[in-house]
Amino acid sequence: MTTRFSPEDLFTNPKSYTDADAWHAEAARLRREDPVCRIDAKGFDPFWAVTRHADLLEVERQPALFPNTLDSVLLRKDQREQSRAGGAMLKTLISMDGDEHRAYRNVTVEWFKPASLRKVLQPRVTQLARKYVDRMAELGGECDFALDVARYYPLQVIMSILGVPESDELRMLDLTQKLFGAEDPDFGVGEDRAARMAVVMDFIQYFAKMTAERRANPGTDLASTIANSSIDGKPLGDLETIGYYVIVATAGHDTTSSTLAGGLEALARDPEQLRALQRDPALLDNAVEEMIRWVTPVRHFLRHAQEDYTLRGTHIAKGDVLMMSYLSANRDEEVFADPFRFDVTRADAANQLSFGTGVHFCLGANLARMELRTFFEQLLPRLESLELGGPTEYTAATFVGAPKRVPIRYRLR
Ligand code: HEM
Repeated sequence: MTTRFSPEDLFTNPKSYTDADAWHAEAARLRREDPVCRIDAKGFDPFWAVTRHADLLEVERQPALFPNTLDSVLLRKDQREQSRAGGAMLKTLISMDGDEHRAYRNVTVEWFKPASLRKVLQPRVTQLARKYVDRMAELGGECDFALDVARYYPLQVIMSILGVPESDELRMLDLTQKLFGAEDPDFGVGEDRAARMAVVMDFIQYFAKMTAERRANPGTDLASTIANSSIDGKPLGDLETIGYYVIVATAGHDTTSSTLAGGLEALARDPEQLRALQRDPALLDNAVEEMIRWVTPVRHFLRHAQEDYTLRGTHIAKGDVLMMSYLSANRDEEVFADPFRFDVTRADAANQLSFGTGVHFCLGANLARMELRTFFEQLLPRLESLELGGPTEYTAATFVGAPKRVPIRYRLR
C-alpha cells in the first residue's frame, strides 16, 4: 500500500522525509489544492507551509516584512525553549537581520566570490577531489558512496578553508553530524538535552581557541579574515566570531555531502544521464545545478511576518510564522517541466531555489558548486560503469538531509 502523509506529518515528522516518493506526492497535492497551508501539529506552534516557487520568492525578497529572527528553523515548542539559550550563545548570520546581518555578511562576502575561490581554493579542491576518487578505486569497485566518500570530501574542504588541521577533522565531523543529524537516530544526539548542550559547548571551546590563535598569528585563510575583521571600527564580538565559524563549518558540510551523494545516486539510477554527461563534459555546470535542484538538502527555513499580509489569497497575520519549503518549490510544475525527472540537460535547472534567495542567499553557493563540479570532473573520465548496489536510505530530519546510504558498484580506470 502506498504511504500517505497528512500535511502536519509532512512538515513536522522527520521520518516523512525518508520516503521521498510519498513526501513529494503529498507536497504536489498541496501545491495544487492548498499552496499556503496552515499547519497546526501537536507539540508545535502553528505555521504556514509555503510550497510554491513564486510564493517563496515573494516572501524571501521582502526581508524587512519577513525577517529570519533567532527562530529560523522548525523546532518543537520544548526544543525551541531549550535552543533559545543555545541560540543566544551561538549567534550566526542565519539568525541576524537588517543592518547587523549586512555588516557581518560583508566580512566574508568577497572571500566567497568565484574569482577569489578559484584563486585561493581551486588547487586544494582539485587535490581533494582526486584523493576521494582514488579512494573509490582503493575500495575495489563497491562502497557506500554516502558514508565512504561524500561525507568526507566537503568536510575536508571546509576544514581547509577554516584552517582546522587534519588531526581534528574527525572530531568536527562527529560534532556537525550530531548537531545537524540531531533528528536522525543514526547520527544525532536526539532528545538528550545535556548531550546537545555538550556538543554546542565543544564547538564553542574549539573555535574560541582558534580565534585566539588567528588573532595572534593572522594568515590568509577564512578563519583569519573573520578573526581579524572589524565592524564600525570594532573587532567582531567573541560569540559572533565563533558563530561565524560554526555556521561555515556546519552549513558547508552536510549540505554539500548530501548533494554529492544524491547527485551520484541519480546518475546511478539513470545510465543514460551518466552517458550524456560523459559524452559532453560541457553539460557539467548544468548537471550540478540539476543535482542541487534534485536533492534540495536544506528542506526549509522559517520567516516571521511583521505585518498582516496576503499571500496567494491567504491572509497571513502579523506575528505568523512561514515555512519556506525549498524541497516542494524545486518540484513546482509551474516552473519546472516534468519536475520529477532528473535531467542534466534541463534548460532552467538554474531556477532552483535550494540556496534560497534575497539577503540570506547561501554565502557558500559558489563554493558548493565548485566542489561538486570538481568532484565529477575527476570522476567521470575514469568511470567505466556505475550501478546501485542496494537500497538507498534517507536522513530522518526536517531541516537538512538527503540520502545517507548510497551503496554502489562501479568500475574505475
Ligand atoms: C549544496 C550545498 C548548499 C546548500 C543547498 C545550501 C543552502 C543554504 C540555504 C537554503 C541558505 C539560507 C538561504 C535563505 O534563507 O534564503 C544558506 C545560507 C548559508 N549558507 Fe549554504 N548551502 C550549501 C552550501 C554551503 C557552503 C559550502 C557554505 C560555506 C562554506 C554555506 C554557507 C552558508 C552560510 C554562511 C549561510 C548564511 C547566509 C546568510 O544568512 O546571510 N553553504 N545555505
